[in-house]
Amino acid sequence: MNILLLGSGGREHALAWKIGQSPKTEKLFIAPGNAGTAQVGANIPIVATDFEALKKFALANAIQMVVVGPEDPLVQGVYDFFKNDPELKNISVIGPSKTGAQLEGSKEFAKAFMMRHGIPTARYLSVTGNNFDEGIAFLETMQSPYVLKADGLAAGKGVLIIENLPEAKKELNAMLNGSFGKASETVVIEEFLSGIECSVFVMTDGESYKILPEAKDYKRIGEGDTGLNTGGMGAVSPVSFADRTFLKKVEEKIVIPTVEGLRREKIDYKGFIFLGLINVKGEPLVIEYNCRMGDPETEVVMLRIQSDFVDLLEGVAQGNLHEKALVFDTRPAVTVMLVSGGYPGDYEKGKVITGLDKVGGSIIFHAGTAGKNSQILTNGGRVIAVSSYGSNKDEALRQSFQNAEVIRFDGKYYRKDIGFDLE
Ligand code: AMP
Ligand code: GLY
Repeated sequence: MNILLLGSGGREHALAWKIGQSPKTEKLFIAPGNAGTAQVGANIPIVATDFEALKKFALANAIQMVVVGPEDPLVQGVYDFFKNDPELKNISVIGPSKTGAQLEGSKEFAKAFMMRHGIPTARYLSVTGNNFDEGIAFLETMQSPYVLKADGLAAGKGVLIIENLPEAKKELNAMLNGSFGKASETVVIEEFLSGIECSVFVMTDGESYKILPEAKDYKRIGEGDTGLNTGGMGAVSPVSFADRTFLKKVEEKIVIPTVEGLRREKIDYKGFIFLGLINVKGEPLVIEYNCRMGDPETEVVMLRIQSDFVDLLEGVAQGNLHEKALVFDTRPAVTVMLVSGGYPGDYEKGKVITGLDKVGGSIIFHAGTAGKNSQILTNGGRVIAVSSYGSNKDEALRQSFQNAEVIRFDGKYYRKDIGFDLE
């Protein structure tokens, strides 16, 4: 099968690595990819949201499956674009329809969906310019801290957690007046939940589902989970507190009602559901849905899947996922993200990366890199994910940290405490 993978980060390199191992894969193309994906497939210079260019390429190269990495093309309707075009409709797209992608594209949609299907989540109110006073009154009934979420996609920055009430009211007003552009024309005010978070990934063909290995990511730039939010500084799988009992609750209270809810509402969904969960005294609640895999979680989840991933993707596309086997690798896996100095603020690109050929015992996924002549250069905030197996989490981490030292570029930074809060 010829496969076209959309995206250009560490998640996509990890997906490409796993897809490339399948005997079912004939040709693998990545649009636009990075210097790492170029080692396992062919990069093509098309941005993932340029649907007309993707069409031309897919037809010219006999593509049979499109795997969508990031949320933007999904929220913009890449699934529907392929499905509704007579020339493209036989190409499977792994990812939900535009309506299904609203689980990530609109926090209000996601909250209302959870309410309709009795899925545990924080108490909330959705506010626009029309019910601002109701929003203020709702804030007054809540306790600090106050959680304000821009309804739409805001590049991961749309959630504010505010300690004091006057400040929260001021921010609500600012958001509704466009502090996040159109994304915050609607704001979801949410009860603050206190607990430890983890991510659970589900594959569905719209009828049945498979639960992939869970992971915990580390979003803050600083050690001890301090400082600014980033795209993710590392991840660990499995997650010690997500034991059998917890995961059974996740399946029964969240996964089943979610898949069943999508089916009952006739929402076309053949792809990944990312559950951002919080463990509140042993009970899982949904903090967010995403309509794609996580980054950097994919850089550990792919290591923990032994089965042929393309066979599973075919199950998603063909609606026979229930016939497929999903076998986990029992070894723990971790990833440590090497980032550019200054990230998540301003940083420079174009630094030469050395030492990649000296890495041993880890699997390297490129996040923000570009090839130039025979060199590999930094090309983003998150640069390289160093993933490792170990007989336990700490051994895997030691391996990644050791190789994090071997790889060099100007300004390199990484967190040395990934996994610190897990047993
Ligand atoms: P999101 O952009 O939805 O992933 O939210 C970003 C982060 O904000 C989450 O990973 C949580 O750490 C935090 N967060 C979001 N909603 C809540 C909530 N209701 N209670 C506590 N923390 C939250
Ligand atoms: N790691 C969080 C995300 O991919 O959104």
